[in-house]
Amino acid sequence: MTSPSPVEVPQPVLDLARSARRVCVLTGAGMSAESGIPTFRDVQVGLWERFDPMELATPTAWEDDPEQVWAWYAWRATLVRRSQPNAGHLAVGEWQRRQGVRLDVVTQNVDDLHERGGAHVLAHLHGDLFALRCSRCGASSGAAYPELEEPVAALEPPPCDRCGEPVRPGVVWFGEALPQEAFLAGVEAAQEADLVLVVGTSGLVHPAATVPHLAGARGVPVVEVNPRETEVTEAADHVWRTTAATALPALVALLDT
Ligand code: OAD
Repeated sequence: MTSPSPVEVPQPVLDLARSARRVCVLTGAGMSAESGIPTFRDVQVGLWERFDPMELATPTAWEDDPEQVWAWYAWRATLVRRSQPNAGHLAVGEWQRRQGVRLDVVTQNVDDLHERGGAHVLAHLHGDLFALRCSRCGASSGAAYPELEEPVAALEPPPCDRCGEPVRPGVVWFGEALPQEAFLAGVEAAQEADLVLVVGTSGLVHPAATVPHLAGARGVPVVEVNPRETEVTEAADHVWRTTAATALPALVALLDT
């Protein structure tokens, strides 16, 4: 039997990571892919395979058919609850706890896998799947998604305690504005960093996609971790074509050596 070959960390990436006192890790759906959460560009399977997530995550879809949209989010919430943080999430948490380094996590993900992996998240740019609020009056809601054994095509959203209108997921849909405070905090964290690590994002969705560019324009080194070429690639100083759960633990393990 042969033992698996150790992951090779590109030397320039390791040098940057070792010397950085302030790091910004900007993550997208690829960060959670190895926890079993499908990315937005993955083909969906089963009940939802005929649907495009980009068409379900919109205010129009909600207006047309809230029961369908609620059922889709309830299924995504079920997948998130069933999943575990992967080695990449754990490595980010470990790096954040190191002495002498400030590491800010800025994520487009609406799941809670960074938090469950032991990291504090500075900014959830696209909101929080579990922070439900009223679709009309905006009041935050104590309601929760139902536990599903399997996906269903339609589910009635719970009513708001205050006004009785349907409660919606606490996420940013296409065409909606990002939470201003989170976005500004994310931009600042990236611009003030000594290193921005962009992990698992296609860089297609704005304005989140502008964050690495804004940092790069200030001269902050940008490293992309992604198995594929993306819209971030051109702005990156270094590109590491591997997955989050491979790259991050390998990198963090070498910080002290
Ligand atoms: P996407 O689904 O657009 O892109 C996922 C990226 O992750 C792709 O570039 C993949 O190559 C990469 N990837 C896949 N598996 C990976 C792995 N194991 N490790 C590292 N990278 C991997 O996801 P986002 O860029 O996050 O917005 O999408 C941005 C936004 O579009 C989402 O936040 C969501 C979505 O619609 C809203 O809901 C507003």
